[in-house]
Amino acid sequence: MKINDEYKIVIDNEDYIGNGVTRINNFVTFILNGLKGEIVRVKIIYIHKRFAIAEIIEQITSSKYRIEPICNNYNKCGGCNFLHTTLENEINIKKEYLERLFNRKIDYYQSKNEYNYRNKVVLHVLEGKLGYFNDKTHDICEFDSCKLLNPKINSKISDLKKYNLNGINEILIRCINNEIMINISGNIKDNKLKDIDCDSLYINNNYTKGKEYLIDEINNLKFSIYPNSFYQVNREVMSKIYDKAKEYAGRGNNLLDLYCGTGTIGIWMSDNYKNITGVEINKDSIKNANINKKLNNLKNINFICGDAKIAKGNYDTIIVDPPRNGLSNNVIDFLNKSNSDKIIYISCNPKTLQRDIELLNKYELKNISAYSMFPRTKHIECVTLLERR
Ligand SMILES: C[S@@+](CC[C@H](N)C(=O)[O-])C[C@H]1O[C@@H](n2cnc3c(N)ncnc32)[C@H](O)[C@@H]1O
Repeated sequence: MKINDEYKIVIDNEDYIGNGVTRINNFVTFILNGLKGEIVRVKIIYIHKRFAIAEIIEQITSSKYRIEPICNNYNKCGGCNFLHTTLENEINIKKEYLERLFNRKIDYYQSKNEYNYRNKVVLHVLEGKLGYFNDKTHDICEFDSCKLLNPKINSKISDLKKYNLNGINEILIRCINNEIMINISGNIKDNKLKDIDCDSLYINNNYTKGKEYLIDEINNLKFSIYPNSFYQVNREVMSKIYDKAKEYAGRGNNLLDLYCGTGTIGIWMSDNYKNITGVEINKDSIKNANINKKLNNLKNINFICGDAKIAKGNYDTIIVDPPRNGLSNNVIDFLNKSNSDKIIYISCNPKTLQRDIELLNKYELKNISAYSMFPRTKHIECVTLLERR
């Protein structure tokens, strides 16, 4: 097999990130945006020691699940991986992948919103052009409207494009409770940009005008958010995940919320536990967590700013919600040595989740549910319950 070789093939299977999979001359080959059962002519575009990648150059037959992508930048910005197929098929592909990975049946909760669910975006600016980075390069992929974003964010992006953005590196926009927060990073040359209409403006992470933080209200709780604090991007699915974690956690005395962000999960469970401790490395998130404690009149929750590896003490239940790279060895060690009855592991990366569950050998996986937190992209969110063996 060589680059640019062409083959007529039948696609045998699908991976979980939007590609078809087949064997060509007994060599595993991923077919970009291919679907199971399709007969296609492909061209090899990349060869690795253990696999090749091919693109479709002629669609001879099409899967009944194939649809026309609704975005002109599909396969350019790298944000969406499943626009070539129906949402129903995307969910089935992801569900089958998870069921193989964890060797059990898994419930999959679908977001009510297929599009427009994201409440946050970080855009890049290069030579005055605003957009996403093109997949695998630092060229700018400009767009008028991104299907994943809240419409108010799209409209703010159109406003921003009217300014001279030379000198700017990055712009973060959040839309919380219908209010817009913007953080502009770089060297502002167009002073009019400082007057842009928004509810909260930061320049180079410094508070500039409007509200210092935005507040979301959900489930009778209030959550404040600074520009660089963590807040789940799909609030509808966020509340489903927190409800599931609360159901798994039940009631008890002491709860540890590791990687707690702005303290949302611990606060969600504050009526079911006597004492809650949250640990989080990001200082802004911890500032929000302490504001959130006051906003919700809570006395039974405390937050510590630090690395999760500093965690110590005994808890009935420990919740972990780490970033994509999963748990560090120190945290795995702490959890295995803990005498907690339950660990609730929330994860946005099934591969590191599966790795960590194997390493948590003092605990047994009891339950796992998947959530479509990021429809149309390759990402999957899972909530798992582990109990001490
Ligand atoms: C997936 S978010 C979860 C936040 C929160 N549980 C929520 O639902 O909003 C992961 C959080 O872990 C924090 N984090 C990353 N590395 C960390 C570490 N080594 N120790 C503690 N927190 C960390 C991040 O700042 C982020 O807030």
